[in-house]
Amino acid sequence: MNVSATMIAGMEKLYRTNFVNSLPGFKSACLIGTVDRHGSTNLAIFSSVVHIGAHPPLMGFILRPTSVPRHTYAHIRDTGVFTINHVHAGIHAQAHQTSARYPDGVSEFDACGLTPEYTPAISAPYVGESRIRIGLEFVEEVPIQANNTLLIIGGVVEVIVPDALIRRDGTIDIEGAETVAVSALDGYHTTCLIERLSYAKPDRDTRRVPE
Ligand SMILES: Cc1cc2nc3c(=O)[nH]c(=O)nc-3n(C[C@H](O)[C@H](O)[C@H](O)COP(=O)(O)O)c2cc1C
Repeated sequence: MNVSATMIAGMEKLYRTNFVNSLPGFKSACLIGTVDRHGSTNLAIFSSVVHIGAHPPLMGFILRPTSVPRHTYAHIRDTGVFTINHVHAGIHAQAHQTSARYPDGVSEFDACGLTPEYTPAISAPYVGESRIRIGLEFVEEVPIQANNTLLIIGGVVEVIVPDALIRRDGTIDIEGAETVAVSALDGYHTTCLIERLSYAKPDRDTRRVPE
């Protein structure tokens, strides 16, 4: 079936949301933890976390339009810090539940049964149950005029990951951490590594013996 832009525009709203959200395929499932200046915590699931750059280490995510209150955004602008926490198969349902619209003053940590954890490096809460956790300082917000969303960019100040999951070449064994992928807004997947390939060059075979 060839689906035209006109057909997409004519889809019923929820159907269109599901259809278009499926188009990127697998995405990362991350919980973003924040705190405001009074110590109120917030936790929400995001599937738009991306790598922005390695030197300096920067990560970002897309935030929906702030036409309605967004606690994650308000907290980040208030305290300038946030955490990104990988979701694993043991907590995917609780992670999903954080997307519910809880009233002001209700922390998703309590409502969804996840544990806030702190380190001296950053005042934002980490998710105790998560196995790969990144603490970030707000760097920049980039307005995306096409649909009034924002690209929020943070600089990495701390990474908490078990030693055993860091390979000799610096890559992190995300399957060892049981990190899940998400599809559309409701599908949670475990993954299976096919193989790792070496840095691609025009005259070289990229296949190598895995470590
Ligand atoms: C699987 C999944 C992925 C989501 N990804 C995003 C995202 O990338 N950006 C976003 O703004 N909201 C995303 N949401 C919606 C937020 O989780 C939801 O709006 C949440 O209530 C925001 O919480 P807050 O107002 O406390 O910040 C996603 C929801 C689900 C279920």
